[in-house]
Amino acid sequence: MKAKGIDIINLASGEPDFDTPEFIKAAAMGSLDAGFTKYTPSSGIPELREAVADKLKADNGLAYEPAQITVSCGAKHACLNVLLATLEPGDEVIIPAPYWLSYPEMVKIADGEPVIVPTRMENGFKITPEDFAEAMTPKTRMIILNSPGNPTGSVYAREELEALARVAIEEDILILSDEIYEKILFDEQKHWSVASLDAAFYPLTFTVNGFSKAYAMTGWRLGYVASPSWAAGAVEAIQSHSTSNVTSFAQKGALAAYRGPQDCVRAMTQEYARRRDYLVTELSSFSKIHFLRPQGTFYLLLEIGETRLSSTQFAERLLEEEKVMIIPGIAFGDDRTVRLSYATDMESLQRGVERLGGFLKRL
Ligand SMILES: Cc1ncc(COP(=O)(O)O)c(C=O)c1O
Repeated sequence: MKAKGIDIINLASGEPDFDTPEFIKAAAMGSLDAGFTKYTPSSGIPELREAVADKLKADNGLAYEPAQITVSCGAKHACLNVLLATLEPGDEVIIPAPYWLSYPEMVKIADGEPVIVPTRMENGFKITPEDFAEAMTPKTRMIILNSPGNPTGSVYAREELEALARVAIEEDILILSDEIYEKILFDEQKHWSVASLDAAFYPLTFTVNGFSKAYAMTGWRLGYVASPSWAAGAVEAIQSHSTSNVTSFAQKGALAAYRGPQDCVRAMTQEYARRRDYLVTELSSFSKIHFLRPQGTFYLLLEIGETRLSSTQFAERLLEEEKVMIIPGIAFGDDRTVRLSYATDMESLQRGVERLGGFLKRL
């Protein structure tokens, strides 16, 4: 439709609308000019793994040696490496829904069985320890937690994470903690890394994070996993024998991101918060939809049950009739919802919301 010149408003984006901060680009370009163009150690250059270990200590209270860290092609690749390193064929992995859409597919690639556990809006779209325990079978090997969450915008409180991790450790179930939206948090929310909450959780938890969302570096393909010592070698071996290292000069950009000033991250998050506030205020006056005030990320999940449309029908009609693009929740394992992204400029957001209002009125 765009190619035909139709004015589409895109509220579907899964990446920051900002450019990568200049000092990060300069570090990568400088290293390229200096000829930093060869293979690096497959898990990443030592100074970057050290910077990641320092960050995890300072921000998250986590003690990892650089040798436990594998820098990968984004948090996505880091998750896949963990699944390939830990799952035996038929192992079950519990995934709370709505989920980030690659989790079940990655579990299948690793010969595991995704077990989808629906959550409820009244629980903040978060899995409860009871739901978790109920979904467990003798084949359960892992649970995937994602806070702040895509597509929910929800953030798990410390006590919630602790309660879930207690259920996991009782049965020796691994935890994959995807913390990629850690820095995009609003109001007084605090991010907790599950591995930091109790010494007993640490050996069972893989902490995944990266540079894509916080530093607007999605195209650079830079993420990492911090693994417990017993698993770090396997994660590293999988990467070493598949992709080898992440692009050499991109790693220098990541190093600058972690060692440089962090005000760019705060400025972007403030802007997401401003847009979130706008969206929440406007959407509150619309009928037929329900939602929770996002606590983090740049997404807002609309519950559309009252419209009696499936999420695909809702998204298709909104696109056809109002030229607004959003993502149907079926992609995230929940057909009662659709996801709006506010990783877009304020003017587009305003126009998109206006059109959405008109669409809902007509339904
Ligand atoms: C929850 C979640 N995890 C991981 C990723 C992947 O991040 P990356 O671009 O670093 O691979 C995304 C990207 O949308 C995401 O939403």
